[in-house]
Amino acid sequence: MTKNANDSSKSASPTLRSHYWLNHFRKNLERSPSIDWDRKAALTLSDDARVIRSIQSWQLGETSDGAHLLQATRDFLDHYSQSDDESKSYLETVQLFIREEQKHGENLGRYLDKVGADRIKFDLGDSAFRLVRSLFTNMEIWSASVLMVETMAQIYYKALRDSGRCELLSEICTDILIDEAFHLKFQCERIGTYYGKRSIPARFATKTLYQFLYTGIISAVWIGHHHAFQQGGLSFKDFWRASWRKFLGHWRQVEGPPVHASDFQRNEG
Ligand SMILES: [Fe+2]
Ligand SMILES: [Fe+2]
Repeated sequence: MTKNANDSSKSASPTLRSHYWLNHFRKNLERSPSIDWDRKAALTLSDDARVIRSIQSWQLGETSDGAHLLQATRDFLDHYSQSDDESKSYLETVQLFIREEQKHGENLGRYLDKVGADRIKFDLGDSAFRLVRSLFTNMEIWSASVLMVETMAQIYYKALRDSGRCELLSEICTDILIDEAFHLKFQCERIGTYYGKRSIPARFATKTLYQFLYTGIISAVWIGHHHAFQQGGLSFKDFWRASWRKFLGHWRQVEGPPVHASDFQRNEG
């Protein structure tokens, strides 16, 4: 189906900034991460079993073929894209986003290989998260759940990096953190596409619902991974504060003014 760029039902829609994001992901793919794979992995199965178990879970979480996301993206574009060109660019953008996540999974997997730990195939938390995403193909729910988990990821990888236990792990985490900052901005813009169209009471209800779900997620993440956070010097109080500070910061981006086509040139740079 050919979309008309002047379709009146879509003319008020914010732009998806598909070219901006496609350029970003293409350029980021060319960035060579400064990871020295000749380094030795300093964590050991005998001394760091609980942290390694935690890394195994996150490694599994970073591996996905992205099939559900691609389907959700196609449905999303049917409603929000204003042209075939925008749809094509956005779909490629999402494919590159999936590739970056797979890169995180592969790098953590290589680290586990060096440590002599398995790349696990099952984790309860990961299965629950995948189930939620497969049950809800709606792009907003998908993006919101990823926003919550990626916010956790920012705190998690920063804690591992700052633990100072292993140079190689720090380099892997630094590379992931560079990517994740943009992933979060990408999710915020997409959630904002839905959020910006709602009435004030509906926005309040949306934010309240997401805060409720986020409380559950951060509680589960602390229970499952507190050893890793503590390695980075985070107490439960530090973790809880950082979790909300980051989430509310991201939510301000969701609530920010939508980017319209007239802003497009300005935002392409
Ligand atoms: Fe990731
Ligand atoms: Fe990510």
